[in-house]
Amino acid sequence: MAVYPLQRGRRIRSTKQVRNLVAETHLSVDDFIYPMFVTHEKHVQKEIPSMPGCFQESIDYAVAEAQEVKELGIPAVILFGIPKTKDTTGSDAYCDTGVVQEAIREIKSKVKDLLVIADLCMCEYTSHGHCGIVEGGEVDNDKTLDYLARIAVAQAKAGVDIVAPSGMMDGMVQAIRKGLDKNNFITVPIMSYSSKYSSSFYGPFRDAAESAPQFGDRRSYQMDYRNAREAVHEALTDVEEGADMVMVKPALSYLDVIYRVRQATGVPVAAYNVSGEYSMIKAAARLGWLDEQSAMMEVLYSIKRAGADMILTYFAKQAAGILRARN
Ligand code: PBG
Repeated sequence: MAVYPLQRGRRIRSTKQVRNLVAETHLSVDDFIYPMFVTHEKHVQKEIPSMPGCFQESIDYAVAEAQEVKELGIPAVILFGIPKTKDTTGSDAYCDTGVVQEAIREIKSKVKDLLVIADLCMCEYTSHGHCGIVEGGEVDNDKTLDYLARIAVAQAKAGVDIVAPSGMMDGMVQAIRKGLDKNNFITVPIMSYSSKYSSSFYGPFRDAAESAPQFGDRRSYQMDYRNAREAVHEALTDVEEGADMVMVKPALSYLDVIYRVRQATGVPVAAYNVSGEYSMIKAAARLGWLDEQSAMMEVLYSIKRAGADMILTYFAKQAAGILRARN
């Protein structure tokens, strides 16, 4: 291998044009999925204090925001629901008039050519805040599966484009695929949160979605951050169960996991740039400790570089504006 002075790495970094020419990673609005929090309340839009620029909003505002997202060229939104009432089985999640089902119907009918993805989990809907049916103080995996299938069918009936199960139950993808197929929703894809870690970076989201567990934590179902091989195993089993896309979540402390999952699977890989990752940059920028735009772009590019095909991010609208201005 040639070395200095024959080799000079700086030759291909000297101008913007040459840097663009040799850039290995490209980011586009086509890569983004924008998360939204839809509340049952009427005509409200409340900013989430720990997530500046993000809102809990009623369906009318959500339709308007979805339209804005579509006009920015972002291909998809993912919806989280904040129901009026929570109960032990999270019935608002699978009821035809549940908040997310209503939101899906409204957005699909009013905003053309925008993909509507629904987060498929019980924690925002259950009184105890866990992602499944609780029996004897523990989340009962197999009892939960029937409910997950019911939620998927309710979302599909409302017209959802993609369902995204996020509860980390074993067998969830298989149960959902079966439920959808039995009800003739064979064309609805499953984006599985296959490799989701138990993470402190979900803190702001739990305020936003009012989904903090009322007792204990999620470590008996979400992954241990010490493990990466296990994340690959989780992704592969979900693909075998019928996942059309897999996900690594969070993104920033898990770039190695994104890379490994990308190498190991043939299906598209999503990465979730979660609430805490967003809030950290927003907070540091407010203190004047970081330049918000450049930190945001660096983070998004790094997730792409690690191997993500798409990024769920609260920065989607802001980054879309920057990418568009560049073109
Ligand atoms: C629900 C769910 C969570 C997130 C997405 N879906 C929170 C959790 O598992 O507690 C987190 C998203 C974020 O922090 O941005 N199962």
